[in-house]
Amino acid sequence: MPNIAIIGGQWGDEGKGKIVDLITPAFEIVARFNGGHNAGHTVIRAGTKLVLHLIPSGILHDGVLCVLGHGLVIDPAALDAESREVEALGFDVAANLVISDRAHVLLPHHRALDLMSEERKGSARLGTTGRGIGPCYEDKAARRGMRISDVLLRDRIDAKLAALREHFEALCRGHGVSSDIDWSKTADDLEGFGARIAPRVRDIAALLHRQMTDGYAVLFEGAQATLLDLDHGTYPFVTSSSAGVGGVVTGLGVPPSKIDGVLGIVKAYTTRVGTGPLPTELKDEAGEGLRERGGEYGATTGRPRRCGWFDAVVARYSARLNGFEGIALTKLDVLDTLEEIPICVGYRYRNTRLDDIPADVTIYEECKPIYENMKGWKTPTSHAREWRELPQEARDYIRKIGDLVGVEVPLVSIGPDRDESVIDESTRTAGWLRR
Ligand code: GDP
Ligand code: IMO
Ligand code: MG
Repeated sequence: MPNIAIIGGQWGDEGKGKIVDLITPAFEIVARFNGGHNAGHTVIRAGTKLVLHLIPSGILHDGVLCVLGHGLVIDPAALDAESREVEALGFDVAANLVISDRAHVLLPHHRALDLMSEERKGSARLGTTGRGIGPCYEDKAARRGMRISDVLLRDRIDAKLAALREHFEALCRGHGVSSDIDWSKTADDLEGFGARIAPRVRDIAALLHRQMTDGYAVLFEGAQATLLDLDHGTYPFVTSSSAGVGGVVTGLGVPPSKIDGVLGIVKAYTTRVGTGPLPTELKDEAGEGLRERGGEYGATTGRPRRCGWFDAVVARYSARLNGFEGIALTKLDVLDTLEEIPICVGYRYRNTRLDDIPADVTIYEECKPIYENMKGWKTPTSHAREWRELPQEARDYIRKIGDLVGVEVPLVSIGPDRDESVIDESTRTAGWLRR
């Protein structure tokens, strides 16, 4: 079996968790490579809803090894709480989850800094998840971060925390704010966390290399999405990690030659949480309808997601950057009731047409979508299990998206459940989805 990367093609929440859970049986290993508990990946299992933030969405499959790579920022309390939640459902997290010795540790002062920074920015805030993600990656880039290998040694914890504290307190003084971080409790908590995870800490790059050499297949699970990628997204309205396919290489230590295929996960319309450009955003009943039918409320923060029509410029940009060979189109059922469905095929910026995403967000904010209308199918699709059971207009909509993005669509999702999925067996990339 090939090693496949799952990458969000829009602004997140495309349904990556569902798709990873669905196709995990074709893999031995599922590995997260970026982000932290800002992610919220929903998996529905026998009517029970589970939202995974750090643990890979393959954890509900016995015998599948789940991996947290170098590129993650791990909040110990969040990982502990999530592990307990998954274990309560009867899954053995301790036996099936390994953690990179090089991943960074997200600490209480990161969260405090995230909240302070958002508050200071006022109306210019990014609308972060408030989890401390940005400040943790800042400490990483500034080369003062705490890594998982550090929490295995008490001396190291104390030395690193002392340096981080000094830096943090200088920042607080500079901004004239005070903070009430309990540093000695933090040190004790980290020591306890280190002792608990020690048996599961690994050199993940070496482990994956061995496993792939032995013929095991790896599913790389992206968090966030291409338009939230630090380099390729709508900067500065992005997250602080590499959410595109490049993150697989840096965040797991896997060479590009070992990524055999890239599957983009793309919603049949567009959503975004937080601030930043969203050209097809609908601020009327049509947007409200998508939000209500699609249950578009953040899986991590519960915030209402901003909703708009499908944006082919965005999907094409993601396909080019990541080298999508196929896309899984999700939430098609949310469009079931519509008479007409607009698709954005390009932008108008003042008097010129744009067919790509400008670097400057102030220009992007001004871009107006150019729409083509597709005929709706006005019939429920969630019962479909085979391609031919989808209404003709729905197949036309899927084909149009495939044509505009320039890649095939091997999988369409028509409901949150695993079963509510249709594979187009005539596509080449359908072979990636099952054994
Ligand atoms: P992720 O972050 O990409 O894993 O996506 P989220 O879990 O944050 O958001 C996707 C939401 O849509 C979740 O509530 C899923 O249960 C739900 N979902 C996934 N696929 C479908 C689908 O095809 N149809 C519908 N109606 N809901 C879906
Ligand atoms: P999944 O993996 C959607 C957004 C936040 C904010 C910006 C920066 O579930 O698709 P951060 O807390 O990362 O510094 O916030 O990124 N964001 C997401 N939006 N889905 C996510 O993850 C997100 N993770 C971060 O809303 O706009
Ligand atoms: Mg999500």
